[in-house]
Amino acid sequence: MRRQFAHAVPMPDQRAMANLALVGFMGCGKSTVGRQVARELRFEFVDTDQLIEDRAGMPIPEIFANEGEAAFRALEKEVIASLANETGRVIATGGGAVMNPDNFASLKTHALVICLWASAETLHERTRHQSHRPLLKQEDPLGTIREMLKERGPVYKKADVIINTELRPQREVAAQVRHQFQESSST
Ligand code: S3P
Repeated sequence: MRRQFAHAVPMPDQRAMANLALVGFMGCGKSTVGRQVARELRFEFVDTDQLIEDRAGMPIPEIFANEGEAAFRALEKEVIASLANETGRVIATGGGAVMNPDNFASLKTHALVICLWASAETLHERTRHQSHRPLLKQEDPLGTIREMLKERGPVYKKADVIINTELRPQREVAAQVRHQFQESSST
């Protein structure tokens, strides 16, 4: 197990690396990178946001608007728990999923958890023309991202591996993710 830009460290436990989970802030590239890595590993790609929408029968902005964030988080927790017995999946999680320690702990029982990292400025650049994220529909989205990242950063950093996505094409990030997973699976 290796943290990028850090020392090689031994596996923290003897987890079976049945799956690969991507965590990180909105706009860090979890879905795009996850899809590519899944193709390359011949794994199935799942996106927890998509699974939540399927369960709720409505898109995320509507869940937030009609039922509130707490209802969304409850569905998110159910969906993440339901993945614990799966194998061969690349799991892209929503940016807030691992803020619930139960979700983080659940993912860590069966998956290598990789965080895709980017600065607030880059995340703002990547998300500013998208409209499907209720939490970023603010007057000052960059300020919101900075505040949220301050709170979430220390949690994201508890991932097994952190990959900086700044200034690197997504195919390179995907190659790095795949490499880390293959290394961890062979130890
Ligand atoms: C959220 C991130 C979103 C989605 C929801 C809440 C968050 O997922 O789960 O809008 O709390 O950061 P992405 O990270 O895929 O945009």
